[in-house]
Amino acid sequence: MAFYFSEPSHTFGEYLLVPGYSSAECIPDNVSLRTPLVKYNKKAGEVSPISMNIPMVSAVMQAVSDDKMAIALAKEGGISFIYGSQSIEDQAAMIARVKAYKAGFVTSDSNVRPDQTLEEVIALSEKTGHSTCAVTEDGSAHGKLVGIITSKDFRISHCKPGAKVSEYMTPLADMVTGQEGITLSEANEIIWDKKVNQLPVVDKNGNLVSLIFRKDYATHETHPLELLDSQHRYIVGAGINTRDYMERVPALLEAGADVFVLDSSEGYSYWQEKALKDIHEKFGKDVKVGAGNVVDADGFNFLAEAGADFIKIGIGGGSICITREQKGIGRGQATATIEVAKARDEYYKKTGIYIPICSDGGIVHDYHITLALAMGSDFVMLGRYFARFDESPSNKLVVNGNYVKEYWGEGSNRARNWQRYDLGGKKSMAFEEGVDSYVPYAGHLHDGLGMTLRKVTHTMCNCGALSIPELQEKAKLTLVSATTISEGSAHDVVVKNTNIQA
Ligand code: IMP
Repeated sequence: MAFYFSEPSHTFGEYLLVPGYSSAECIPDNVSLRTPLVKYNKKAGEVSPISMNIPMVSAVMQAVSDDKMAIALAKEGGISFIYGSQSIEDQAAMIARVKAYKAGFVTSDSNVRPDQTLEEVIALSEKTGHSTCAVTEDGSAHGKLVGIITSKDFRISHCKPGAKVSEYMTPLADMVTGQEGITLSEANEIIWDKKVNQLPVVDKNGNLVSLIFRKDYATHETHPLELLDSQHRYIVGAGINTRDYMERVPALLEAGADVFVLDSSEGYSYWQEKALKDIHEKFGKDVKVGAGNVVDADGFNFLAEAGADFIKIGIGGGSICITREQKGIGRGQATATIEVAKARDEYYKKTGIYIPICSDGGIVHDYHITLALAMGSDFVMLGRYFARFDESPSNKLVVNGNYVKEYWGEGSNRARNWQRYDLGGKKSMAFEEGVDSYVPYAGHLHDGLGMTLRKVTHTMCNCGALSIPELQEKAKLTLVSATTISEGSAHDVVVKNTNIQA
């Protein structure tokens, strides 16, 4: 006979936190959001081989996680899982770019030749969004440097059509450059001494290596939580699938990937078990692989036994997800998180091994992050949230007078990432499990994330918690009625300012 769960499943919007005692020390500045990413022997006093400084990772999605997002999020202390629905070569190139990125040292993506026209400079600047173009002999990012041209060097309305870059650029002879090997603080000294806005770094043959901008150096100092590996490179993750992992994993390891996740809507399967075992057998246990998604204790225990380094929770709760209406599988995200967290704690008691869990999808308001953590999640994965920022790979458009960004599911016709949904074996006939959509544009990641984390740390203090484990221990959660939910936002008034970010 079929098994029935006795209680209906619930989602985050149906819960609230009840405050606990806040002591004088319980202030947001004292809160640590550090959290483990992969499993470790907690009982033996070990620490996780990879931890994050904030409990947020960006989703394995074309519209969310590319190298630009990965760098931006690692600067803030989290990790991006670069999408796997692209060729192995392209994904490896993205990983390699993250690992090669040196904070403050920018590989110029706006380069022109001296014989190009000012119209071409303008077109390039519009495309890249950068007003400074390096002028190199062959127009490449690492060609011989001959000058710099910025939008301040000319007024197009005053120039004759077809005017050449060489006539308006600052030539090399009038520029200050740094030699390859220069440190960021040395470069900064030069930038201030010589009153320049950027310093091109060249090798001994005069070829352009990178650019250092005055503002980037300042940015570097404002990221105290940045997540670096032992060689001071940004930490980055990669999504993989259960089909081509024997080729994809070594290529991504070679490119420098720090951690993988099997990206699938359904993790309780022979295919994930096989992939986890094959990867760990062939490439070693040091290769860290998360798995999922699951929504109950059975799914968790299965993946734990199969060797998953962390386990993701969630089916059908994603903002762009139509899995529930297409297939009728899934579970309320809060209930799934609570049950999996309980299974994780029992597994730890039994084995001494702590397997971090991640609530994936369905975060609508910032406080849902705090709820997920309080319910036992070690970190959360978000798609819609990150897609809204400048740093996501998708297009920014104006729709009905508002700025929006595009955001589409991996299971939408647009992404065509059918591998995420099939059940292994012969390629199955796929159908859509996601939609293509717009989300409101939200500016720079640094600003939006800062606000979100302030809300998380404030709520933690209200619960008397200075760390995520403390929150998980002390949190008092209450299910609320539909009437209580509507009482929770402004009611019985005519709201003047609707510009409050949730
Ligand atoms: P969001 O943060 O609510 O937008 O949810 C993001 C999550 O939705 C991802 O991390 C995936 O687990 C899941 N997801 C991504 N694409 C699809 C899709 O096309 N259909 C169903 N779920 C998806």
